[in-house]
Order: sequence, then structure tokens, then C-alpha cells
Amino acid sequence: MTEASAPRKALTLHRLREMHASGEKIAMLTCYDATFARLLDAAGVDCLLVGDSLGMVLQGQPTTVPVTLDDMVYHTECVARGNRTAWIVGDLPFGSYQESREQALRSATALMQAGAHMVKLEGGGWTTETVRFLVERGIPVCAHLGLTPQSVHALGGHRVQGRTDDGAAVLLRHAKELAQAGAAMLVLELVPSALAAQASAALSIPVIGIGAGRDCAGQVLVLHDMLGLTAGKRPRVVRDFMDGAVGVQDAVRRYVAAVKSQSFPDPEFHSY
Ligand code: KIV
Repeated sequence: MTEASAPRKALTLHRLREMHASGEKIAMLTCYDATFARLLDAAGVDCLLVGDSLGMVLQGQPTTVPVTLDDMVYHTECVARGNRTAWIVGDLPFGSYQESREQALRSATALMQAGAHMVKLEGGGWTTETVRFLVERGIPVCAHLGLTPQSVHALGGHRVQGRTDDGAAVLLRHAKELAQAGAAMLVLELVPSALAAQASAALSIPVIGIGAGRDCAGQVLVLHDMLGLTAGKRPRVVRDFMDGAVGVQDAVRRYVAAVKSQSFPDPEFHSY
């Protein structure tokens, strides 16, 4: 067996840090079930995000707000059964961590016991102590700043964040605080590329972008968006990888290759 054809070793936090340090881009996709987990893992996706976007994608909800912890536990279990080597990130849904650090710990424990390797939570400032609390108790945490969909009503819609000097300064401050509190990864959603580049340079943890330009350590997309399955106008930050592909596995392989080679995202089309 050649090195290239050897089965992939399981992704760990250590390996993700090595990839980041060596400049290898991290390819993440959302994933909600065992069949896709198997396919994405085999196609070389590094991280599977069991995103609360399943509220829209699977449940037909208008936002992520109605998604429950039970929903997330169920889908995390499904993904964990199908996955072999990818790193699984489980989203803490709205209302499952805002009340107290203890509530966050209980919710994160449920996701970890369902098969997540890391939990993700949205927001900065008040979340810093929650992140520290979880990390000190052995739970790897991914933070999420920029457009935080659970706050869509407070933010006034799906808008690009950090466009003003003040907004950019707050985002950078929150990012640094979260990293100092022990967050091992940061998702930045819908922020100007220049700001995402600044955050990536300022932090030693990998920043995974969605609509945040190509200077991030990795990229994430909603699976159904990049497979061209989502109804309505395609969001600007998405490329339809089914276009020209011979099947779903090929489309996913193309996504992984495009992230690794930095041909996705294209600054002209998918960034701000
Ligand atoms: O839930 C989700 O799919 C997400 C991504 C958009 C980053 O949080």
C-alpha cells in the first residue's frame, strides 16, 4: 500500500493544529446523518459540523432558533455512527448554554456523549467564561463570531458583520478573548475578508471561514448549499460543487481540493 492510498488516520485536535501550523487548509462541511458522514469522511473532509442549520435544511424551519438539544443529540449520534476518521463538531443550540456555565456543561456533555469531539457555541464577550469553564473540564470548544445565526432576530437579518471600525474592533477583541479562554477553533461567518485575515493573523488557533475570505485556516459550507440542493437564490458565499461533478462524492472531493488549493473561496464571488 502506498502512502497516498493508506487509509486516513483519525483527525485529532493535535493533527488539526499541525495542519494549521503547516499551512494546510482545513475542509469542513455540515453533516447531519450517517450516510453523508460516511461519504464525506471517505471524500477527505477533515471536519464534520453537525450544525444547527439542520433546523432549516432538514426541518424546514425559518431559522436555527427552534432547534433543540435533543435534535442535536440525535443527529450527532447519526453522524458519529457513519463517520470513521473526521473530526466531529456539534453545535450547542439556542437556549442550551445561555442560562449558566453549568447548563452549558450539561448540554456539551450530552453532545460529547452522542459522539461529538468538540462543541461549538455562538457569540463573544459573555461566552468567554463559558468557554473557559468547558475547556477546563476537558471539552474542546469552537467559538463562532460574525454573523451568529441564533441571534438573527437581534442582528436584524443575515447581514455582513464587522463592517464598521467599531464592529471590527469588538469582533477582534472577542476573538482574542475566546482564544485566550481556550477555544481551540473559531468559525467566522459573513465578515469582510480583510477583517477575517486580521483575526487569523492575530490568533494561534485555526479560523474557519464561511463568507470570510480565503485567508482563513479553513472553510466551511452548509452541505446542501454546496450540493445545489437548497431552494431559492444561492447565497453569495456558496459555490455549487455539483456543477460539472459526476456525482455527490466527486462534488465533495472537488470541494476539499478547492479548499486545500485555495481556489475556493474566490475573492471576486464568495467574499466581502
Ligand atoms: O449550523 C451551521 O451550519 C453553522 C455553519 C453555517 C457555520 O454554524
